[in-house]
Amino acid sequence: MVADNVELEKALDINKYILSKYTVSKLVDRTLELRFLDNSPDLDWNLDCRHGQEKCLDLQYPFARSPSTLTRVNVKDFKILLEADGQLHTKSITEIKFDVKKIWDFTWQPGNTIGILPHNDESDVEDILKYLNLENKADNLCVFQLMQESKKTKYPSHIPNRTTPREVLRDCLNLRGVLKKQFLRTLAEYCSDISDVSFLKCISSKEGSAYYNEIILQNAFTLLDILKTCPSCQPPLSLLVEHLPRLLPREYSIASSPLINSNEFRIIFSIFSTNPGITTKMLQSKPAQVLMYLRQPNKFCYTEDDFQNDQILIAVGGAALAPYLGFLQHKQCLIEKGASGVAGKTWLFVGGVSPQAIAHRSQLMQWLSKNVLNKFIESHSRSPSATNSYQYIHEALNANSKVFIDLLLQPQTSIYVCADGSQISAALEATICKCLSKEINIEQSEAQNIIKDYRRQNKYREDFWC
Ligand SMILES: Cc1cc2nc3c(=O)[nH]c(=O)nc-3n(C[C@H](O)[C@H](O)[C@H](O)COP(=O)(O)OP(=O)(O)OC[C@H]3O[C@@H](n4cnc5c(N)ncnc54)[C@H](O)[C@@H]3O)c2cc1C
Ligand SMILES: NC(=O)c1ccc[n+]([C@@H]2O[C@H](COP(=O)([O-])OP(=O)(O)OC[C@H]3O[C@@H](n4cnc5c(N)ncnc54)[C@H](OP(=O)(O)O)[C@@H]3O)[C@@H](O)[C@H]2O)c1
Repeated sequence: MVADNVELEKALDINKYILSKYTVSKLVDRTLELRFLDNSPDLDWNLDCRHGQEKCLDLQYPFARSPSTLTRVNVKDFKILLEADGQLHTKSITEIKFDVKKIWDFTWQPGNTIGILPHNDESDVEDILKYLNLENKADNLCVFQLMQESKKTKYPSHIPNRTTPREVLRDCLNLRGVLKKQFLRTLAEYCSDISDVSFLKCISSKEGSAYYNEIILQNAFTLLDILKTCPSCQPPLSLLVEHLPRLLPREYSIASSPLINSNEFRIIFSIFSTNPGITTKMLQSKPAQVLMYLRQPNKFCYTEDDFQNDQILIAVGGAALAPYLGFLQHKQCLIEKGASGVAGKTWLFVGGVSPQAIAHRSQLMQWLSKNVLNKFIESHSRSPSATNSYQYIHEALNANSKVFIDLLLQPQTSIYVCADGSQISAALEATICKCLSKEINIEQSEAQNIIKDYRRQNKYREDFWC
């Protein structure tokens, strides 16, 4: 997991990061120029409260469910489920309920996801305007133009045809994304101080890769950190538009059932206390409305068709329980309304930092007592004193290997895994393969083929956070 004290590591002595010899990388051609249309702030434009990306008519939203469009949805309720606790290593966890009463095409199933379109933090925007010396022109109308029309260079579809510097920085560019070497190299061209120039040229060179990894990848330096570190750097806004990626929507799982109330739904998210992400910080500021769209559904859902089947649910992270809270609410409603057939078994394995970090743990206990949930096995990585728990989820799976594999092998069982889509997901799959290989006495490679088959049959269903 990413360190929570990143801010502390951001004061750099740049002279320690300048090699005596390095090969300066080539510059890429500039493509855009900025032209101001007005000499004073445009009041009408600034009164238009649409998000900058809403003004870009042909813009696509990743995995948007057709004909779903970007919708401004009212926040109905805002609840902090858990406050961050440095000693327990817990992040804060928040739950937001949205009101979708008057949004006619908003129909969903537990496990479906939404995309939330964020805006950057106002103070980041102000700081960048200051570094770019654009404070006095922040709200003046401007246009970006291609320097040369060619097949290779296209106008960025996420920038409105007419805009203002503030709008571009607030709504359109990812100000906290990973900085590419090419961008750092180009920034060196806009520094007046020789140390700043050498530092940027060195960390963007082939020989400076170890420095790039340390500063940009490990210490997560953003554009703002680089501008603070190299105060003589004053790039034009058009360069930022060329090099920074689009500010993309972030995905959140719907954590409730439409059978409880189809006019509202909730999401649950965790937040880094000292270095919060763009969207989680925006959501944590209790906005009255949020811009969102429904994403295309996939097999990671729980519907009435799954009612008589068995499920093994696996979540890495206390907030990663979000989709399963919707599954279990749905199952409870189906039981209560007397859905046909006998409810299948649902087992839940969850790995969190501590019992407190497991979102809605008391509700899970209630579901366990009512047989909505049939087995609940937790692991707590930072709370070793808690009784009856494992430290990591793979220990819990290994320890329950026999019963877990017995259930998995039943034809009506599906396994759902919610993890990072990278190392953690791979480690979990390896653990499941190991359990399979041990319990039915087969080679690991055979177990891997079984999992491959399960994936093809949608028996092994995955949700990724990254
Ligand atoms: C299909 C899908 C469903 C998702 N559902 C949920 C959900 O229901 N609830 C939920 O909380 N998240 C969910 N996520 C993750 C979510 O989309 C965001 O990535 C997350 O909230 C951080 O967004 P941000 O804009 O605040 O951070 P960014 O500004 O995008 O992130 C900056 C950096 O900080 C890291 N980061 C920020 N916040 C956290 C955190 N809390 N824990 C670990 N790393 C963090 C990011 O990995 C990144 O490196 C889901 C992701 C996917 C792909
Ligand atoms: N549907 C979704 O995709 C969805 C839903 C909700 C949340 N999320 C995302 O899920 C992420 C994590 O949620 P969170 O913030 O609640 O989690 P968290 O508090 O960071 O907890 C993660 C847990 O996983 C453990 N862990 C780390 N590496 C592991 C590994 N290789 N194998 C097994 N366990 C491992 C951690 O142990 P240590 O204490 O040792 O680090 C910790 O106990 C967030 O980024 C959030 O955005 C996604």
